[in-house]
Amino acid sequence: MRGVHLQGAPLVSPQEDEVPPDTRSGITSTLVLSVFTAVLGSLQCGYNIGVINAPQKIIEQNYNATWLARHNASIELSTLTTLWSLSVAIFSIGGMISSFLVGVVSEWLGRKRAMIINNALAFLGGALMGLAKLGCSYEMMILGRFLIGAYSGLVSGLVPMYVGEISPTHLRGALGTLHQLALVIGILIAQVFGLDSLLGSPELWPLLLGLTVAPSALQLVLFPFCPESPRYLYIIRNKESKAKESLKRLTGCSDVSEALTEMKEEKRRMDMERKVSITQLFRCRIYRQPLLIAVVLQLSQQLSGINAIFYYSTSIFESAGLEQPVFATIGAGAINAAFTVVSLFLVERAGRRTLHLVGLAGMMVCAVVMTAALVYLDRVPAMSYISMVAIFGFVAFFEIGPGPIPWFIVAELFSQGPRPAAMAVAGGCNWTCNFIIGMAFQSMADACGPYVFLIFAALLLGFFLFTYFKVPETRGRTFDQIAAAFRRTPSLLDHEVKPSTELDCLGPDDNA
Ligand SMILES: *[C@@H]1O[C@H](CO)[C@@H](O)[C@H](O)[C@H]1NC(C)=O
Repeated sequence: MRGVHLQGAPLVSPQEDEVPPDTRSGITSTLVLSVFTAVLGSLQCGYNIGVINAPQKIIEQNYNATWLARHNASIELSTLTTLWSLSVAIFSIGGMISSFLVGVVSEWLGRKRAMIINNALAFLGGALMGLAKLGCSYEMMILGRFLIGAYSGLVSGLVPMYVGEISPTHLRGALGTLHQLALVIGILIAQVFGLDSLLGSPELWPLLLGLTVAPSALQLVLFPFCPESPRYLYIIRNKESKAKESLKRLTGCSDVSEALTEMKEEKRRMDMERKVSITQLFRCRIYRQPLLIAVVLQLSQQLSGINAIFYYSTSIFESAGLEQPVFATIGAGAINAAFTVVSLFLVERAGRRTLHLVGLAGMMVCAVVMTAALVYLDRVPAMSYISMVAIFGFVAFFEIGPGPIPWFIVAELFSQGPRPAAMAVAGGCNWTCNFIIGMAFQSMADACGPYVFLIFAALLLGFFLFTYFKVPETRGRTFDQIAAAFRRTPSLLDHEVKPSTELDCLGPDDNA
């Protein structure tokens, strides 16, 4: 979940896209319907990231009232902050747990059925959050956020997987980006619905949170008309005729032998390269430096402070003295969506390393400007607008670099064998940091006041230096070339590493 987090889901590896375009197969109505139906999940995932931002004050008052009714005393501010932060951040715990299950669930149930059944979590979570006010229970709210987080963790793995697998090769990159786009649009929709003139009012906020079941319902209606992924049917389940049928529906051609041959080739390659488990990934020396880079880049995405904006921007803008903080929040959501589109074009054209460096540096400058603006707010009233512009810039630079790039680089640093394990580790780090920021930001802001963004500026500087000195350019290079680049930096990697080391260190496990 990019940028959010979660922003940036594992995209299809660009290496796999560099196959000559097959111009005969095109966009069919079945393909459009299937992609649309799948990304409804991404939309919902984004919706739940953005939804708790605007109504924070109102729901906090509700917690306070609940506390008052139960304990006959007004709630302590620190308790309230903890309860609210937990409601925000437990989403990431759910996401972290379920993101580790994506591989198992998608092989066991199949891509389509996994997404259908996943909606049960959304209905349950949405119902708990929507009824929390009626039930006078912040526990219901917190449990609901946990379940919807678990839903989102599965979505952010299953949707890119399904969309990547049903798309014809030459459209895979383009369609793969729709997950990310639906996600940021979901955030924006949630921010607009959160306006107090719409659903962000003391009476209607349960509806705002419960509305998340609407895309689930639509998805349940539409999924029966979508085919299961042909790659799943053929490569995992070995059902050739069913895979053919699915391919025929997706491509609209009666002759699908070419696509079938491509899948056979893919299966053969997969059988050749042994799958690497997470423990092997940690034990094996040649993975050490790529893994370090993958993990630090994920940290750079989450610890940049972006989710502080997506979870808490309304209260940040309010303390910056803006009269209509919700509109500034919506502005940030719109900038986010716009720059997601910009980055889709940039990522294919510019180097990953360059984009990441530009993004980190830009965010750092914006964080410093934002801090200065907030500090001088009392003396210069126009500073509240400068702080708003700085936050917009912060979001824009995020989408240029730290949003999409970490996922790209993880996919490009690892070949087919270790990639799933590396993706799982990267995803786990991403969700963990997402939780830390969601949980800690409000307390940090209370303690540091306007200086809170200097902490992020310092972290961003650290990540900039790490990227500058340690991260190789991966665009347009093969795994062998990237591995060779690591061998030339002996500081972290043994001089003695020979190309055969991968097999050596995987050997014992396979014999056991
Ligand atoms: C909780 O509500 C009471 C009564 O409405 C109010 O006096 C108190 O300031 C509120 N506490 C917090 C932390 O908002």
